[in-house]
Amino acid sequence: MEVEEAIKNRRSVRSYLDKPVEDEKIAQILEAARWAPSAGNLQCVEYIVVKNPETKKALCKASYGQEYIKEAPVCVIVCCNMDKISHYGQRGVDVYSIQESGAAVENMMLEAYALGLGTCWIGAFNEGEVRKILNIPKHVRPVAIITLGYPNEKPISTRRELKDIVFFETYKGK
Ligand SMILES: Cc1cc2nc3c(=O)[nH]c(=O)nc-3n(C[C@H](O)[C@H](O)[C@H](O)COP(=O)(O)O)c2cc1C
Repeated sequence: MEVEEAIKNRRSVRSYLDKPVEDEKIAQILEAARWAPSAGNLQCVEYIVVKNPETKKALCKASYGQEYIKEAPVCVIVCCNMDKISHYGQRGVDVYSIQESGAAVENMMLEAYALGLGTCWIGAFNEGEVRKILNIPKHVRPVAIITLGYPNEKPISTRRELKDIVFFETYKGK
């Protein structure tokens, strides 16, 4: 599949078929994440793969009741290990960690799309609760939950026009 096709046609999927995701496909998706850019190649991003229905139920509650977390056969919790990125001081912890995780998430979502799977990026959750549920230590920050499964919907989405978001030479420069 062409990269451009995946970039343009991937959509956030919030309804999934009751069909398991093959372990090989999960591995391929995590492999795609592993090859994302990494600040200083320190590779601070870590992943927790969850299939257990009870755990997904708890994650759903911690995510303010976003129901499709329970429906998705797999959730991947994307975490940043701050011990690894703290080499870059506060900027590493505050900025690089989030940027690196985001790059990994996008790779995951595009790879999943290419494999015929749907994903949704979930950022709205109570971090403290997610930590407790998954036994995540203090130096590791859960930054995103990615739901994964065979799609049961084909959502559409819109984007702002390039002319409204791209400036030249200075902010708002034409
Ligand atoms: C940082 C971030 C956090 C997000 N958090 C949520 C979320 O908590 N729940 C949700 O349903 N979608 C969430 N999304 C998905 C966006 O709503 C979605 O990407 C956007 O509406 C554009 O739709 P598309 O992905 O289908 O193009 C999040 C996306 C990003 C990038």
